[in-house]
Amino acid sequence: MKDLIHEFNKKYEEYMLSIDGINNGIKLEFVFGDGSMNSVVMLVGEAPGKDEVMLKKPFVGQAGRILQRFLESVDIERQDVYITNAIKYRLSKEGKRPGTFVNRPAKTEEIELARVFLLEEIDIVKPVIIVPMGNVPLKTLLGKNMNIGECHGRIFEGVVNDAIVYPIYHPASLIYNRSLEKVYEVDISNLRKVINDTMRK
Ligand code: URA
Repeated sequence: MKDLIHEFNKKYEEYMLSIDGINNGIKLEFVFGDGSMNSVVMLVGEAPGKDEVMLKKPFVGQAGRILQRFLESVDIERQDVYITNAIKYRLSKEGKRPGTFVNRPAKTEEIELARVFLLEEIDIVKPVIIVPMGNVPLKTLLGKNMNIGECHGRIFEGVVNDAIVYPIYHPASLIYNRSLEKVYEVDISNLRKVINDTMRK
């Protein structure tokens, strides 16, 4: 299975590199999925940031630390889940100072393109529970009209193979909106219940 994911990453990289003008023509910096291939749970973020590019691992910066704190509060260890991003390169645009780059939102075409690849990655890892974190992975998986504010904490069945899709907010949204802390706590503790129920079946 490790070989399959390695092949998949290579294919993704080659495909993206073949698209003219992708990422505003800025060099693509890839970060691929990480974690156990036997994971029951697959967490899906938006795209890697600067810290992730530096360490070549998803969710190792501030958003990653928030996520880890909440997961640990319900005894979910990072090594037991598979973490990936819908878009596997840093979404960059030029910063104010020459030679610097900042993050930018995903374009609609990038989300559409991400779908094909994410479904292939899901086919390889075969998680039982898929957790899109935020609007970008949610729209990638369930369609562009979906909205995280309406979908978080709900269970979607029969939309991605036999898996359960359980969307939650992106952990970075807690940085800008402290009032989401409580909502996040409830959604994560319900994720624990979804995992427990799945294991019992
Ligand atoms: N935010 C994401 O969506 N993904 C990461 O890997 C890090 C931050």
